[in-house]
Amino acid sequence: MEIIRSTVEMANWVDRLLVGGRTIGLVPTMGYFHAGHLSLMRLAAQEADQVVVSLFVNPIQFGPQEDLGRYPHDFERDARLAAEESVAVLFAPTVAEMYPAGFQSRLKIGALAEPLCGRQRPGHFEGVATVVAKLFNLVRPSVAVFGEKDFQQLAIIRQIVRDLNWRVRIVGHPIVREADGLAMSSRNVYLSPEERESALCLHEALELARKRVRDGCSAVRQLKDEIEQSIAGHGGVDVEYINFVDQYNLTDKSSVDRETVLAMAIRVGRTRLIDNGRLFEGA
Ligand code: PAF
Repeated sequence: MEIIRSTVEMANWVDRLLVGGRTIGLVPTMGYFHAGHLSLMRLAAQEADQVVVSLFVNPIQFGPQEDLGRYPHDFERDARLAAEESVAVLFAPTVAEMYPAGFQSRLKIGALAEPLCGRQRPGHFEGVATVVAKLFNLVRPSVAVFGEKDFQQLAIIRQIVRDLNWRVRIVGHPIVREADGLAMSSRNVYLSPEERESALCLHEALELARKRVRDGCSAVRQLKDEIEQSIAGHGGVDVEYINFVDQYNLTDKSSVDRETVLAMAIRVGRTRLIDNGRLFEGA
């Protein structure tokens, strides 16, 4: 596996590969790999000839009060894990490479960036979209794989690809969970044992909503009350949002149907966690 740190070298590597008629699968990440990231790499390897993984903690998608300064990292371990997944290139640029002095452009996103995490994290999705645009331009993948845990991010990236006619296929990978249901996240490392126990409320809420929908309850107001009560039973959890939204346009639903996604964000201590899921079997 090659480790590339400069944008020019990355673009040159891509030039050479594309001349040979081969395809690239890109997995954009911020590192500190867990089994979820490795699944994205495996899926990319099925979808393209060569896999490029980017590892870049993108400062412009973090707000001033967020965890940019303490975002977990272990480059040696990440490089070893990526190499074991037969990744061709680990692209790990510095901040100065990606945002040289004078950098000032942002991709502006419309209504999809307003609800859910967009409301809590102003500017976040512009930052994500901007770095993803740069990565797509540098790596020119035929396919890019993203995790479905960042469900709003995925919806926004799909929208931008359509809006801007990018020639890349976006593939979502289902959420990878720990044995007890906690969605894998690099940020789980922040959790104390007690906080980790409380964080299970997210998966429990999803399971509760699915059961109630199976039992015939589709009224969002009722489901939301029950989820709030269930989460309140866990110590130290602050709810940021619990929304039942349309999976495509992210608008709120009053009644659950096959297109409905339950999307949630909570804070446990200083850690912000998100989770989501569809509520009908097989939806
Ligand atoms: O999902 C992430 O890890 C990040 O938002 C991404 C897509 C790598 C952009 O920085």
